[in-house]
Amino acid sequence: MEIKKVGVLGCGLMGSGIAQTAASAGFETIVREVSDDLINKGFAGIEKSLAKFAEKGAITAEQQKATRDRLSGTTSFDDMADCDIIIEAIIENIEQKRSTYEQLDRICKPETIFASNTSSISITEMMTATSPQRQQRFVGLHFFNPVPLMKLVEVVRTILTDEQIYEQAIEFGKKLGKVPVRAGDRTGFIVNRLLVPYMLDAIRTLEEGVGSIVDIDTSMKLGLGYPMGPFTLGDFVGLDTTYYIAEIMFNEFREKRFAPPPLLKRMVMAGLYGRKSGRGFYDYADPKNPTPMKLV
Ligand SMILES: NC(=O)c1ccc[n+]([C@@H]2O[C@H](COP(=O)([O-])OP(=O)(O)OC[C@H]3O[C@@H](n4cnc5c(N)ncnc54)[C@H](O)[C@@H]3O)[C@@H](O)[C@H]2O)c1
Repeated sequence: MEIKKVGVLGCGLMGSGIAQTAASAGFETIVREVSDDLINKGFAGIEKSLAKFAEKGAITAEQQKATRDRLSGTTSFDDMADCDIIIEAIIENIEQKRSTYEQLDRICKPETIFASNTSSISITEMMTATSPQRQQRFVGLHFFNPVPLMKLVEVVRTILTDEQIYEQAIEFGKKLGKVPVRAGDRTGFIVNRLLVPYMLDAIRTLEEGVGSIVDIDTSMKLGLGYPMGPFTLGDFVGLDTTYYIAEIMFNEFREKRFAPPPLLKRMVMAGLYGRKSGRGFYDYADPKNPTPMKLV
């Protein structure tokens, strides 16, 4: 079966980026949200992003229009019935995801491939909400933010994923203009498996007084050529999200390196989520000139 029609669930930060990427790659793309307002909000973001690409000359006005014409929105599951692949990017909540998959399994044609963009939930746990036939057609497609710009997609297989379906998912990732990598269904896949312990270790290094926020950030930038240090990155990603993912990874592996340090837990309890809340490891009162917080 050739993939022609793509369904996307959720038109938030990731869903809108995935829908834009699929439509830009030439796929007829339909996005499902829970309300018309959220569809309009997501589509406004897509318009803005496409306009930026056009301004920079990365796409022509015709390509911009053709991409828009390939996109449609809905609040109904029924409109997803004939999709060849469905990529789910709804909120990171296992009950919501399982219930969505359960409903779609009944509505979609037997050939539809189900894919999840989850960052931390087990693909296997979501897969079991569907029928045995669908379980073989279930994969993870983990994109990175912002999706239209970031080249990587982790393509995740479970122990039940059909070999051909997996290869098709890899090819689909390439058609989206991404570089697919193969990953097993272990919490965190490849990128977060390596990134999360690194970020948690940076916090422990700060807690132990080995270096200051600014000096640790500067060290990783200038010593290793990373585009930003671990605290600047944590504030970008969101410390609540980092804490949540670390908890899930700790539960999966039961290893200390995934355990969220007490300082991170207290920052989250105190509402210091990073950029989005105005304060994290840095204070963003002047967003162009963040100043380090006094935390230890
Ligand atoms: N934010 C990131 O950097 C990032 C990166 C990779 C993967 N992810 C994963 O992508 C998924 C979405 O994250 P996000 O950051 O885009 O969240 P978001 O909150 O921006 O968007 C989620 C959207 O899903 C909608 N939604 C909820 N239930 C729905 C349903 N049943 N059907 C359709 N839409 C529904 C919500 O209304 C919301 O607009 C999560 O699983 C997350 O772990 C996020």
